[in-house]
Amino acid sequence: MKIVVTGGAGFIGSHLCARLLQEGHNVLCVDTMLTGSQKNIAALHNHPQFTFLQHDVTQPFPFPFEAGAIFHLASPASPVGYMEHPLETILVNSQGTYQMLEQAHRQNAMFLMTSTSEVYGDPLVHPQPEDYWGNVNPVGPRACYDESKRLGETLTMEYYRQYQTNIRIVRIFNTYGPNSQLNDGRMIPNFITQALQNKPLTIYGDGGITRSICYVSDLIEGLVLAMFRPYTTGEVFNLGSTEEHTVLDFAHTIIRLCNSSSSIIFEPNRIDDPERRRPDISKAQRVLGWQPEVHLEDGLQRTIEWFSSQNTRLSTIS
Ligand SMILES: NC(=O)c1ccc[n+]([C@@H]2O[C@H](COP(=O)([O-])OP(=O)(O)OC[C@H]3O[C@@H](n4cnc5c(N)ncnc54)[C@H](O)[C@@H]3O)[C@@H](O)[C@H]2O)c1
Repeated sequence: MKIVVTGGAGFIGSHLCARLLQEGHNVLCVDTMLTGSQKNIAALHNHPQFTFLQHDVTQPFPFPFEAGAIFHLASPASPVGYMEHPLETILVNSQGTYQMLEQAHRQNAMFLMTSTSEVYGDPLVHPQPEDYWGNVNPVGPRACYDESKRLGETLTMEYYRQYQTNIRIVRIFNTYGPNSQLNDGRMIPNFITQALQNKPLTIYGDGGITRSICYVSDLIEGLVLAMFRPYTTGEVFNLGSTEEHTVLDFAHTIIRLCNSSSSIIFEPNRIDDPERRRPDISKAQRVLGWQPEVHLEDGLQRTIEWFSSQNTRLSTIS
């Protein structure tokens, strides 16, 4: 199949492109490189079925082929990324999603929008099922991301209602693994970067808030199933790990796995940082037959190995 992946040079997109090529598809990766990296897709450039286009998806562009499927991942995803680029984030999730939906509609292509657990805000329901509407601050510093993803979802559902476009929405919960940005402010990259340099691990708050994290290969499996499995059109799926740990537990585990001498320091809570977040994945289990398979310590070990291999880049991070 001929497949477009927007945001394909980012953390998740680069793994998705590699997986789709492995399955024999033709892949057009479209990315501005706002938060992505050529390094992530360096190994794919020689693949005869891989094409890269540096382009901003908020602006229309002709596809070089009639696409069978569009995975729309383009958007900064980390707090550092979207707070540095709030307007770009709002535009790519609204205008960019609209442009890609137009293409899907015109070409009769399948469409998958990657949304986020952030649409649930600081949730009052735990764990969060897909039919929970969320508790979002519309004017806070994270709103550029949370609210534009919510609008992106609304647009996507309208194309389904108005034109029966073959869409689905995936709400991704915290994901980690190789190719993530070293200094993107997210918990796992931060902790690993600090632990490998024997620097103190920074915890915002008292470390009691919980997170559940999903290894990237499990997430990619879920994205592929959500696109290609029957009975997914018009549906919303949570994808993420249900194994919940405190931030303090993650810090101790990473220090141990890195054989690090790092200490832990505590800083004030970040604004609107949710206390707890864990997906209810029963719908993904039922409809997609999906659930995470990679054990936490195995995934962390693989991620630590990848971060260790980025030695020169690590040493430039203060
Ligand atoms: N990583 C996670 O834990 C997580 C969690 C929830 C949701 N998501 C969603 O998954 C998707 C991918 O996230 P990621 O972690 O790989 O982020 P990332 O920042 O590594 O990748 C996003 C990519 O989109 C590109 N991009 C941004 N604006 C663009 C534009 N206007 N046109 C073309 N390309 C553009 C960036 O350059 C980057 O390569 C995002 O939509 C994100 O919201 C990720």
